[in-house]
Amino acid sequence: MSMRSVKQLKNFKNKSVLLRVDFNVPLEKKKVVDDTRIKAAMPTILYLLKEKAKVILITHLGRPKGKVVASLRVAPIVRRLSVLIGKKVRYLPFSTGKKVQTAITALKPGEILFLENIQFEPGETENDAQLAQVLASYADYYVTDNFAQAHRAYASIVGVPKYLPSYAGLLLQKEINALDTLLKKPKHPFVGVLGGAKIETKIPIMKHVVPKVNYLLLGGGLVNTYLLAKGYGVGDSLTDPEYARQALIYCGNKKVVTPLDVVVGKRDGSVYAVVDIQKKPHEICGDGYGIFDIGPRTIALFSSIITKARTLVWNGAMGYFEQKPYDVGTLSIARLVATQSKNGAFGVIGGGETLQAMEKTRMGRHLDLVSTGGAAMLDYLSGQKLPGIEVLKK
Ligand code: 3PG
Repeated sequence: MSMRSVKQLKNFKNKSVLLRVDFNVPLEKKKVVDDTRIKAAMPTILYLLKEKAKVILITHLGRPKGKVVASLRVAPIVRRLSVLIGKKVRYLPFSTGKKVQTAITALKPGEILFLENIQFEPGETENDAQLAQVLASYADYYVTDNFAQAHRAYASIVGVPKYLPSYAGLLLQKEINALDTLLKKPKHPFVGVLGGAKIETKIPIMKHVVPKVNYLLLGGGLVNTYLLAKGYGVGDSLTDPEYARQALIYCGNKKVVTPLDVVVGKRDGSVYAVVDIQKKPHEICGDGYGIFDIGPRTIALFSSIITKARTLVWNGAMGYFEQKPYDVGTLSIARLVATQSKNGAFGVIGGGETLQAMEKTRMGRHLDLVSTGGAAMLDYLSGQKLPGIEVLKK
């Protein structure tokens, strides 16, 4: 997809740029515990600083629902960014009002002013035109690296571009280019690995992606609904019975590979066993027990397919990987996907828990793209038009 790029902007002399990022990062005790999203946006920030633009940064953090929530102030993010770029970042604990205008007027070329969590403003999620105009009045250009929220039609995402020349940042371009490679010109075999708890969110992707891939490997809670729909006994496993019919249609496709065996047990991992999934429906586990991971034969089967892939995309855990021993399937897939990427296959992963799992293996650097988007990546892979991308189209 062709978007207007920040690189098209040549002369930043005395120009100010409103840069919308997604620094919706986890915090603990007023500290950033995972700065992946901040680091990912560094190329655009450093580019703008090098070009001597005056940079006004905005992000959202959490879901404050239009109210000031002290624990969702962006101060810890500002401190982390300041350390990463090695210079002071100015911060205002609000994002509208006269003081913002004064601070912007005082901003020098090559300096950054970070405004407060934009979702403290009620107009943000309502896509309020007045808020969009106020934000647009701060700058000469709008640049966005906010892929992770590009599926939201909010004021700072789709409103501001109505009033300002708008461009994609370097991260956003990189993410869209990589996802377009998957959707438009994948090398074959193209292998998708899909997991996660809820089948509901994965059905649109299956619809769109199954025709493009050679194999779609399924794991995680979403498989439980399929097994239940086929008549297997799944005990207390997480299921979405209202999606049983769709599960039978999409998971039953011949390109879709479902587990040969699963790990069942108690949720706390104190009791567990591997159970083969026979062709004829049977009880996999009873009450008090659930399916929590893919089994060893499934890992071996998935491995034999992943290691032949030339294009690979992975989203969603293979099980309840936060609890040992149910982490084996997900971490094995993480290692396999990372090992096959770059040299063997063009490898892309995305989604919060997928990134967390990859982080545990410390192999993220082997991927071609670690997308900052969770729901946004899934929507894009489902063929949906993202409002935050549409506004940047040439
Ligand atoms: C994310 O973390 O995926 C994005 O920041 C989206 O956040 P939202 O679902 O609260 O809009």
